[in-house]
Amino acid sequence: MTEKLVVAIDGPAGAGKSTISKKIANALKLEYIDTGAMYRALTLKVLEEGIDINDVDKILDILAKTSITFNDNHIYLDGVRVDKEIRENRINLHVSNIAKIKEVRREMVKIQRKLSHVSNVIMDGRDIGTVVLPNANFKFFITASVEERANRRYKELLSKGEKNVNYEQILKEIKERDRIDSTREFAPLKKAKDAYEIDTTNMTICEVVDKIINIIEGR
Ligand code: CDP
Repeated sequence: MTEKLVVAIDGPAGAGKSTISKKIANALKLEYIDTGAMYRALTLKVLEEGIDINDVDKILDILAKTSITFNDNHIYLDGVRVDKEIRENRINLHVSNIAKIKEVRREMVKIQRKLSHVSNVIMDGRDIGTVVLPNANFKFFITASVEERANRRYKELLSKGEKNVNYEQILKEIKERDRIDSTREFAPLKKAKDAYEIDTTNMTICEVVDKIINIIEGR
């Protein structure tokens, strides 16, 4: 029997983690778990319910009554598929404030670890190599300059037909999300000591995917 394979991918907003992780999952037949999508789904629910983003008690109350599940690479919030909705810019604006709540993280990490037991997995997020799966076989920390990341996010939003997207505004928002994610008290965004760091600023998606697969396959 071959050993179970667990791959952790971390990095800041817009570094390309999810695109890269999906491709690696396909190539190596791994289950892909997008942990950012889980924080995004909870944020969607909080906004839809009209809850004050700073009302931690209400947010925890809602979390206890919420089901977030994956099926076939789609995410479901209380049984409803929400892949598209969780990528809207209104979610980008608020997700880091929800993700910094300690009790929210504790619950999410529980679910994430359970999901990782099921099969060979690649999981992406901010704290996968450091907190969620510290024993992962391979850890990668994917970065890019903040300007390049803002540019990628700008193009992504435009291609999805979002109105009123402005590069300078997105740059500002990404910097703010970086700040909240890296300075929060619980499980901040940080490279694990044993992670390979890849700066993708001047790399194509294909180059990054090849580089990671080569490392995993020991070439
Ligand atoms: O796709 P993008 O890099 O913009 O973000 P994401 O991976 O979907 O994550 C959205 C937000 O969720 C991040 O900015 C973090 O605030 C939070 N997050 C987290 O705290 N921990 C994780 N493991 C994953 C996401």
